[in-house]
Amino acid sequence: MRIIKVRDYQDMSRKAANVLSAQIILKPNCVLGLATGSTPIGLYDQLVDWYGKGDLDFALVKTVNLDEYVGLPAYNDQSYIYFMEKHLYSRVNLDPQNVNIPNGMNADPQAECRRYEKIIDDLGGIDLQLLGIGNNGHIGFNEPDNIFYRKTHVVDLTESTIEANKRFFEDVSMVPRQAITMGVGTIMQAKKIVMIANGEGKAPIVKEAFSKEINPLIPASILQLHPDFTLIADEAALSLMDV
Ligand code: F6R
Repeated sequence: MRIIKVRDYQDMSRKAANVLSAQIILKPNCVLGLATGSTPIGLYDQLVDWYGKGDLDFALVKTVNLDEYVGLPAYNDQSYIYFMEKHLYSRVNLDPQNVNIPNGMNADPQAECRRYEKIIDDLGGIDLQLLGIGNNGHIGFNEPDNIFYRKTHVVDLTESTIEANKRFFEDVSMVPRQAITMGVGTIMQAKKIVMIANGEGKAPIVKEAFSKEINPLIPASILQLHPDFTLIADEAALSLMDV
């Protein structure tokens, strides 16, 4: 595990964008695993900026997103596909055929999980997976549990996640209760993993996940075992850890 301590959100976004950009330059047809949430927005803005300046080309890049809510259509501004369209897909030259995100509207979510896992397999796996971390230690929507789930699966979101996400909805009753997420095994098979974290709100969970024993009740802790895992976090998020 490698920890890169950066000054602030902007510094984190730029450094993480540099890592993704190096991946695209080294392997133009790479498979990028992408995340949503507030943390990667600055990183996506940075990639878009470099694309605009002609420094990055997404023509051959393939993407697979970590997760999607069950039951939110693509036109709902809280769906993850909407987020990705807004922050990345529509702003760079990604081929729509090359972007993948679980379909939360599939009437058979279990079949959707199998379909999604096969897409990742058929692409030959993920070259670089980008992650954020939930306040409860979730990665993707792999919530604290007694076991680590291996493959893409349907999850019931925990109260803590529903609580954290309610700020995006008119009312807490409108927050979806289920999601489809890549499994911990799917994520761990990525060749390279980069997690970004910022702000003092993330400090307790960053400490819990990366300075203690591996524990499925803190799903992100398993990343300690990945052979090429980098945490890029700002001073505030690392303030409770000895780095
Ligand atoms: C998003 C995702 C989640 C977020 C996590 C942190 O696709 O998989 O695990 O990375 O909830 O979210 P933010 O960045 O909003 O703090």
